[in-house]
Amino acid sequence: MARISDEDIARVRELSPIDAVVGDYVQLRSAGGGELKGLCPFHEEKSPSFHLTPARSLYHCFGCGVGGDTIDFVMRIEHLSFAEAVERLAQRAGIELRYEQGGSSTRGGNAGQRTRLVAAHRAALDFYAAHLADDPAAKPARAFLAERGFDDAASAAYGVGYAPDSWDALTKHLAAQGFSREEALAAGLVSQGQRGMVDRFRGRLMFPIRDNTGDPIGFGARALKDGDQPKYLNTPETAIYKKSHVLYGLDKARLEIGRRAQAVVVEGYTDVMACHLAGVPTAVATCGTSLTTDHIQMLRRLLMDQDEFRGEVVFTFDGDSAGQRAALKAFEEDARFVTQTFVAVEPAGMDPCELRLAKGDAAVRDLIARRVPLFEFKLQAELARYDLETAEGRVRALAACAPIVASIRDRSLRPEYARRLAGWLGMPVDEAVAAVAASAGRAAASPSAAAAPPEAAARPKPDDPAYRVERESLKSVIQSPGLVGPVWDALDPELFTHPAYRACHAAVAAAGGVRSFGAASGGVQGFVTRVRDAAPDDAVRSLLTELAVESLLADDASRAAYVRQQVARLQEMGLTRRITETKSRLQRLNPVEQPERYNALFTELVDMQARQRALREQAIDPGPGT
Ligand code: CTP
Ligand code: MN
Repeated sequence: MARISDEDIARVRELSPIDAVVGDYVQLRSAGGGELKGLCPFHEEKSPSFHLTPARSLYHCFGCGVGGDTIDFVMRIEHLSFAEAVERLAQRAGIELRYEQGGSSTRGGNAGQRTRLVAAHRAALDFYAAHLADDPAAKPARAFLAERGFDDAASAAYGVGYAPDSWDALTKHLAAQGFSREEALAAGLVSQGQRGMVDRFRGRLMFPIRDNTGDPIGFGARALKDGDQPKYLNTPETAIYKKSHVLYGLDKARLEIGRRAQAVVVEGYTDVMACHLAGVPTAVATCGTSLTTDHIQMLRRLLMDQDEFRGEVVFTFDGDSAGQRAALKAFEEDARFVTQTFVAVEPAGMDPCELRLAKGDAAVRDLIARRVPLFEFKLQAELARYDLETAEGRVRALAACAPIVASIRDRSLRPEYARRLAGWLGMPVDEAVAAVAASAGRAAASPSAAAAPPEAAARPKPDDPAYRVERESLKSVIQSPGLVGPVWDALDPELFTHPAYRACHAAVAAAGGVRSFGAASGGVQGFVTRVRDAAPDDAVRSLLTELAVESLLADDASRAAYVRQQVARLQEMGLTRRITETKSRLQRLNPVEQPERYNALFTELVDMQARQRALREQAIDPGPGT
């Protein structure tokens, strides 16, 4: 594994002026004093609060609080890792990167080698595409595509091709194009046979696999003849192809995933193509592997918006259980993730490609629109394991499902699920509610409680973007209670999603809140002392100290506005979470069966959305006199 040298990183920084880099994405104008400003690309706003300080190569948005240096900007806007962002900037500045041994670059290999291996893939892609178009022997490949509803334009858009059924057609072609044996081998395109080099892919339909910038780095190859095994043959792990870091279709879906705050995970190459063509441009698939935590991280990074996870991930799968396992794994992954995870399964077990053929584009879009929350799916999967025709089966199913409902982090959703569970079981609602409550009680009582979030004991990382607003708000109230004002004392503790931060919020309340700052003497100093004294233990106390000392991510001049913005952002984020939950509850309600409930929830939603808009305006526009 290679690592970009520090010297090169410094050179990349030097030769990448922040105003030029940001200028590719944001319209900038002078803000006086050498500063520039524009509309923040990371949140919706009408007046510019996104500032650049070219002298210090930094950017900061006073609306949403994001900021950093040039590399950070590219990482955030292009959803790249650090190394990828450096590579992107190097390309832009015309710098050839040198790699050191010992570290690890996410893309692997050294840059020179990477360039050669991608070039070999491009050559192979063109070679296969030409065969698909012209080779009489590619007739079965063309028939396969046509049968699945892909015309020439679709094949061309995805670079689909045909690998001739020959031992060494590609081997010879690559040699003629100037690629060495070693390069062809390292690319995974050829392999060492008994009597020399042979093509890895023969007589197959070829789907190029690209990284998120669109560079081809591997292939998925489908058999065309009956009995040709395996059905799909993929590129082996190489310096540039790591299957646990690749999602097929991500190069095309990336921007749409960010824009729509939705990612759809399907199972196959043809399913990705079918979804995109059917108007679900956010579809991606793993390549010959089940979804790993790395994949989940990649999707999450794309869905991170304004430091908050707002998006949803929809899993589709056809009857079989691999995709189901992947979806259920997301369930165990992270409680925050779960309320935004959905499952869309076609009742007859068709995958998106089959569905599009059978019922057309609209049916594919409809499948995704009719997704059900993962909780529901998880409960149904559990229920399917019991014989609900017998009383004993129902009792055991209830015992198995109650802890699942009790584990739902958002308590407000539990009664609804308990009711639904009772419905599925054909049991009185009271019984299900009681079982859930008993299960929740047991979990809370046991010290090793599974219900306690895993991070409860952990100290939050200061720079964890997921909690930035919570941290900045707490720093604001502890350091400048007067600027925050009495609005603080009305905040819902649920706004703090990290247990440690929630404990800090509780300490402020226990010390008498911001009210006590005005009422008691001792100024800020006295206030901090009272809050620290109110901490339940040393861990929380030391975190409070840290928050009292760490400087705000704003300069002194804009402190008052910043502090108010953070608190508004905090409220807005809490509201956004509740809006997401309410939407998913609405989705599960049948307006015809339960019109009152539906209308009540709908009114609530409209009301919350109005308040959200107001808070957004407040978070962006500091108002006069600041
Ligand atoms: N797959 C794989 N290896 C296999 C079978 C499947 O890697 N031996 C992966 C491929 O990524 C494939 C996906 O699983 O795209 C879905 O496989 P499957 O559902 O079996 O394919 P079909 O839907 O039948 O696709 P096709 O239209 O190619 O028949
Ligand atoms: Mn399939």
